[in-house]
This record gives sequence, structure tokens and C-alpha cells, in this order.
Amino acid sequence: MKYLITGGAGFIGSNFVRHILKNHKDATVTNIDALTYAGNLGNLKDVEEDDRYTFIHGDICNQDMVDELVKKTDIIVHFAAESHVDRSVRDATAFVKTNVAGTLTLLDSAKKHGNKRFHHVSTDEVFGALKKDDSAFTEETPYDPRSPYSASKAASDHLVRAYFHTHNLPMTISNCSNNYGPFHFPEKLIPLAITNLLEGKKVPIYGKGDQVRDWLHVNDHCLAIDKIITNGTIGKTYLIGGDAQTTNNKLVRMILEIMNKDESFLETVQDRPGHDFRYAINHDKITKELGWVPETSLDKGLQDTVQWYSQNKQWWQEIKSGQYRKYYEQQYGEKK
Ligand code: NAD
Ligand code: DAU
Repeated sequence: MKYLITGGAGFIGSNFVRHILKNHKDATVTNIDALTYAGNLGNLKDVEEDDRYTFIHGDICNQDMVDELVKKTDIIVHFAAESHVDRSVRDATAFVKTNVAGTLTLLDSAKKHGNKRFHHVSTDEVFGALKKDDSAFTEETPYDPRSPYSASKAASDHLVRAYFHTHNLPMTISNCSNNYGPFHFPEKLIPLAITNLLEGKKVPIYGKGDQVRDWLHVNDHCLAIDKIITNGTIGKTYLIGGDAQTTNNKLVRMILEIMNKDESFLETVQDRPGHDFRYAINHDKITKELGWVPETSLDKGLQDTVQWYSQNKQWWQEIKSGQYRKYYEQQYGEKK
């Protein structure tokens, strides 16, 4: 099986590249990544010498380049995206380019080259925000995106479905809750909290901190996607979640406890505009059809993650200092 993985130098994509190479010995992986601020080849040092792995520095909006790669592939697993909600609040332009136009480029290429198998990695944020006692999202929940990020992901999901209905493109979609784990870029809450605490700094909590997220270890997400690709029903969507709904207040206190820090390390800051109150996932469908369940508890996953960040200081210090970009500018002569 020849995999084309988009955005494989990012957080989840790099964990998925590693998952495929480790668990599918007959697989080859080509990773196309534009190396935006979120892409980091330091996430893939352990596989870069593997003969079954190829890195292509490129933009998924570049139709000619995408065509060349799709032609030679069996399956496209599409992670590449602008992924940070706060950045989409500041400027949504790149979100529409990559998440919408980039997805369309891939779909057109998949169609042109004999309707290649396509798996689209999406988010629970497309369903909007739940109130405290609302039922969890299911595959039937209507779309109601509320941030520029989630609106762009919703548009991409609709395009993928449209190519199935209009062109019979053999696709599947997964919508997942908040991931955490190794190689998570330290602008997101969990890695920001851990790395700030390791630096002796405070953890910023937006507003009241009573918002609820459902947390899933990235390894569980990778396994779920693998199961969907292998045994999922073409044309279908699967929701993936961690059974770990937690307020931000509680989550950061769990991290404080693991790291032996007190509450003086918490700092209330201005809330995110349009901050979604709660996400929650009902994952019955993937559990019943494909036998997938989240295996890592939030307690254990957080402990492992704190340990990983403690043992991989150079990785995140180079990101926080900006050093990691200087390497790419030397290598590729451009800044994104
Ligand atoms: P990330 O921001 O860590 O990585 C995104 C990767 O895409 C980076 O390597 C970046 O360089 C690359 N990229 C961006 N624009 C590109 C372009 N035009 N061409 C080629 N590559 C480009 O993101 P992530 O957190 O790993 O998320 C991966 C996917 O999973 C996204 O589609 C996201 O919407 C989805 N998702 C993320 C989460 C989460 O909690 N992180 C949860 C559910 C779904
Ligand atoms: O639900 C899936 C989504 O999860 C993915 O689609 C996104 O790509 C991913 O970034 C993530 O989005 P969130 O906005 O939920 O993640 P983030 O880590 O930015 O924030 C988690 C919660 O913590 C959210 O309620 C905002 C809050 N927060 C975040 C930051 C960065 C803080 O209180 N302080 C912070 O400094």
C-alpha cells in the first residue's frame, strides 16, 4: 500500500506517519508538507532514514505537484491544515487557502487519477458548541461551525462528501475531539501549560476556564484512522472521542498536580472571541462497526505527556525560541 500523507510534519500527521511505518511493514509513506510554522521535520527524525519513507516539501494547493504524487499513490490521508483557532480569529486567509482550496486540489487530483481512496481528517468543532447538559455529538448532528477555523474545516468536509456523491470518490471522513501527546505544538493548551511550567512560567486560562473539551491521546486517534482506512465503509463519517470531558480549569489542575506546582502558576487572561463552550463525542458508531475504543486514560496520557516534554526539552525549546525556523530558512530559503 502506497500512502500519501498530507501535513505529515505536523502534530497528528507525524504520529500517523510513525504509526503506519511501524504497523504496516508493506507500506510506503510519502509525506507532503509545506513546513508552515506548525510543520517540523524534527517530529520525524526517527524515520527519516527509513527506505519506505519520503518527504516532499510542498504545498497542497500546488495542483501540478499534487498530481505527480497522487498519480503514484494508493491512498491519500489528508491531515494538512491550519489548525489553531486563535490564529483563525486573527486572520482567516490561510485557513481558507489550505483547508478549503487545498482540500479541493487534492480531491480533484484523486478524481483525475482514477478515483483514489481518500481519508479526510476533520474535527468535532464543525458541529459547533454544546451547552452543559446537551447530548454529545453524533454523526447525525447538524453542522454549526462558529470560528473561522471550524468554518473552513466544515467547508472541506462538505467538499469531500460532494465528491463522493457527485464523482463516486471512495472517501471516508473522521471528526475527532482534542488530541494531545508527543510533538504537540506548544501554542495549544496542554503543551503550552507543560512547557510554561517547565520554564517556571504561568499557565494562561482564557476567561472563566469553565469550557469543556474531550481529550484523546494522539496514538488512539492514529489507531482509529487506521481502522477506518482498513475496514470503514466508503462514503461514511466516523466520530472519534476520548470519553474524557474535562473543564479547562480541571485539566490544568491535573497538570499542576503531576508537575508538583501550586495554583499560583495559573493566570486568568482575556477570553477567546466566540469561545465554544463545550464539545463532546458519542463514538458508538466506530466502536460498534470497527471495534475501536480509546485505550489511554486522561490521567495516564497526561503523565506520559508531561514525561515526554520533560525528556525532550530541546524539541520544544527550539520551537519557543524560533530556532527551528532558522533551520528551514537555510534549508529551503523561504519563510512561511
Ligand atoms: P498541525 O497544525 O500540528 O499540523 C498541520 C501540518 O500541515 C503542518 O505540518 C503544516 O506544515 C502542514 N500544512 C499546513 N498548510 C499546508 C499546505 N498548504 N500544504 C501542505 N502542508 C501544509 O495540525 P494537527 O493538530 O496535527 O492537525 C492535523 C489535522 O487534524 C488537521 O486537519 C486538524 O484540523 C485535524 N484535527 C486536529 C485535532 C487536534 O486536536 N489537534 C483534533 C481533530 C482534528
Ligand atoms: O476539538 C478539536 C480541536 O481541538 C482541533 O480541531 C483543533 O485543531 C485544536 O487546536 C483544538 O482546538 P481547541 O481550540 O479546543 O484547542 P486549544 O488547545 O487551542 O484550546 C483548548 C481549550 O483551552 C480551549 O477551550 C481554549 C483554552 N485555552 C487555550 C489556550 C491556547 C486556554 O484557556 N488558554 C490557552 O492559552
